[in-house]
Amino acid sequence: SNAPVIAIDGPSGTGKGTVCGRLAALLGWHLLDSGALYRLVALVAERSGTAGSDEAGLSRLAREMPLEFVKGEGETPIRALLDGEDVTAAIRAESISRLASEVAAHPGVRQALLIRQRAARRPPGLIADGRDMGTVVFPDAPVKLFLTAGPEERARRRYKQLKDKGIGVNLRQLSAELAERDARDSERAISPLKPATDAVVVDTTGIDIETVMQRVLAQVTENI
Ligand code: C5P
Repeated sequence: SNAPVIAIDGPSGTGKGTVCGRLAALLGWHLLDSGALYRLVALVAERSGTAGSDEAGLSRLAREMPLEFVKGEGETPIRALLDGEDVTAAIRAESISRLASEVAAHPGVRQALLIRQRAARRPPGLIADGRDMGTVVFPDAPVKLFLTAGPEERARRRYKQLKDKGIGVNLRQLSAELAERDARDSERAISPLKPATDAVVVDTTGIDIETVMQRVLAQVTENI
């Protein structure tokens, strides 16, 4: 399909997920949480005892895992089902975050998920949330945004997010894990985390979500 795509990339803790959820609700467009796909591969790998280094095994899981996304509510706009089991909360665990970023460095895994991601592009349009939406998956997207924020603020936001979900974490440890994950995502050879040359960079440091939404919406109305 050549339905319009709004590609929103950036590291975690920038408000990306919230922005994407609100945009999808506002416009009535489909929502792709590409990070959830990498997290699902990580979860299946963990459960099946597939090592983070086993590219062939992980690629097969990425191609064959029986997943389904269904509509959720409010702060959880989509729920992830694995063979019918609701794993929406399970894929948010920190152990899965770490394994997801390991899994995501394998070209075979990315290739398998590319097909699933492009299939999400359907009328009336798609909000695509990830790291390489504007650079690799939807390079022809008419709107490309790249959200950033300072590392301390991103760690604080993640901390609050996880705490609100009832997931117990330690701020210092979370900061360290976030930094490690960002480094791995930014330095990998394939599809590294970086803004597309034609992306608009929005620095959200010290800016509340309402103001971020205004800036994002300005880009959307200008280009769609
Ligand atoms: O966005 P989220 O934190 O759920 O993503 C989990 C991990 O999945 C990221 O740290 C990254 O390694 C990987 N990812 C990716 N490409 C995407 C989305 C996520 O490599 N488009």
